[in-house]
Amino acid sequence: MNAPLKGLAMQAPSYVKNAKLIAWVADMAALCKPANIHWCDGSTEEYDRLCQLMVDAGTFKKLNPAKRPNSFLATSDPSDVARVEDRTFICSANKEDAGPTNNWMAPAEMRATLQPLFDGCMAGRTMYVVPFSMGPLGSPIAHIGIELSDSPYVAVNMKIMTRMGKAVYDVLGVNGEFVPCVHTVGAPLEAGQKDVAWPCNKTKYIVHYPETREIWSYGSGYGGNALLGKKCFALRIASNMGRDEGWLAEHMLILGVTNPQGKKYHVAAAFPSACGKTNFAMLIPPAGFDGWKVTTIGDDIAWIKPGADGKLHAINPEAGYFGVAPGTNMQTNPNCMASLDRDVIFTNVALTDDGDVWWEGMGDAPAHAIDWQGKDWTPAIARETGAKAAHPNARFTVAATNNPALDDAWDDPKGVAIDAFIFGGRRSTTVPLVTEARNWVEGVYMAATMGSETTAAAAGQQGVVRRDPFAMLPFAGYNMSDYFQHWLDLGKKLEAAGAKVPKIYTTNWFRKGADGKFVWPGYGENMRVLKWMIDRIEGQGNGNDHVFGVSPRYEDLNWTGLDFSAEQFNTVTSIDKAAWQAELKLHTELFEQLAHHLPKELPATKAAIEQRLRA
Ligand code: GTP
Ligand code: SPV
Ligand code: MN
Repeated sequence: MNAPLKGLAMQAPSYVKNAKLIAWVADMAALCKPANIHWCDGSTEEYDRLCQLMVDAGTFKKLNPAKRPNSFLATSDPSDVARVEDRTFICSANKEDAGPTNNWMAPAEMRATLQPLFDGCMAGRTMYVVPFSMGPLGSPIAHIGIELSDSPYVAVNMKIMTRMGKAVYDVLGVNGEFVPCVHTVGAPLEAGQKDVAWPCNKTKYIVHYPETREIWSYGSGYGGNALLGKKCFALRIASNMGRDEGWLAEHMLILGVTNPQGKKYHVAAAFPSACGKTNFAMLIPPAGFDGWKVTTIGDDIAWIKPGADGKLHAINPEAGYFGVAPGTNMQTNPNCMASLDRDVIFTNVALTDDGDVWWEGMGDAPAHAIDWQGKDWTPAIARETGAKAAHPNARFTVAATNNPALDDAWDDPKGVAIDAFIFGGRRSTTVPLVTEARNWVEGVYMAATMGSETTAAAAGQQGVVRRDPFAMLPFAGYNMSDYFQHWLDLGKKLEAAGAKVPKIYTTNWFRKGADGKFVWPGYGENMRVLKWMIDRIEGQGNGNDHVFGVSPRYEDLNWTGLDFSAEQFNTVTSIDKAAWQAELKLHTELFEQLAHHLPKELPATKAAIEQRLRA
């Protein structure tokens, strides 16, 4: 199983010409001591070979090709199922530069901690050299990374999630820059030791050195802990690049929305993990919206740069989706279901008896399945024990090109011009369905103070409200107050140049009724809210000006095709004075925590809201 892959050499292939890269790989090989080095070329042949290798090793199960062609199921170790925020570190030279919302350790101390862990960490395994581009290959907006990983699961996921392969080396050339990313599952094999299906280590470190733009990840094989192009590079390291160079790296979907007259708008929306980005990015307009079309540019990450035209242009640096499976079905997200017809890697969903997959909220439960932990699962067992067939953070990995709603410009290096930003938390109470900020500063305030109930996307307690500024709490690679300042500065710069700045909205699809159920139907019906935003952009939509912004009244939304009463609308939009007074106390606590470098505009905006609340 761990025999050397045929034809692989310790030395770089002739097409790799970057001296710094070759020296770095040699250094890392000397430290990690893998049995082999495999330089990934990104070919389909290589993908197929690595998938087969994992089938043989028991990491992958091949799904029934008649049901789910060219698709695989991986099930992880039960201790390795989500991002580990408490093990994630921003190791800047100064502690203040990481800020109070990040774990910090001095770089030298962290290097000394990691050195013995990485020494020999890949023994008995193959080190994959994974060249990737975040953003279209060769585009001025893109950045290159090289991930060294001892996980073939990571290599094949990176092939789907990024532009991965040989062509990266052409762009890199002899002197090109790359972000070095080292990843190990932290499970060296002694001679003759049998491997397990999902190697990992109890000890985990997800480490970023922002000044030297390096990523070191130890002990986990799952998602954002291990696919280092995603959160580690495209958000934590890229947010540092963006601060230095005047652009933004955000936890945002990007969508295009075209009205019946053919006019197209672009919206970028930041919702915390597992709070609806993939769903919103693939939205299908409901009844009453004939001629409207929504297309996907991205579902998780946006890189946004001011263009020469004074507008903000957004690209999706990724090439695939690592999306939440549970809750996805033909009603909630038909485009997503169609994307999953073939060529998918599923992780931690259930295996049906006919060799297909199932998860909670997919549709009718099978009479029997093997759950994500390899145990028998039946609806009766679920009723008795509460056992879940799929882990709540079970995911699929699929290429963007599988999405039937993919926008024509998804791959355009110029990006798309953003007309509006949305920030949306998951809140059972208090926060209304939608609110428009009256100006950029009020919008930054809304985003900065956003609260959301925690989800299974991160290890730890679920369902507790925490402040999640800009949906970036786990992803901002530098001091959160400096990040707020960066947003304010960008707005000022755009306004000074006479540009029409994007409007800013905050949404909440998740208010619950007395019965504990979501009141707002959500999913495709979110189009009704999106349409109101576009009306507002056109200077047409009406609304109610209130203490912290503008929200639509019942009569301001289009209700054609939906039975939703004014009373129900009131349940999801009412603003309770006492609840908001309590909410503002939480904003105060956040601002106390972030006092160092907190832009003065934010407490000033809070004071204005408090005054209006008292009036
Ligand atoms: P990450 O990939 O973790 O960054 O998350 P995401 O924001 O892309 O999350 P995704 O779209 O996959 O959201 C998954 C969860 O949100 C599931 O529990 C869905 O059922 C739920 N969800 C998405 N949209 C809606 C909505 O409009 N209403 C309600 N009530 N739930 C929604
Ligand atoms: C998230 O948690 O926001 C994700 C999944 O998008 S992961 O890539 O695991 O971070
Ligand atoms: Mn995400």
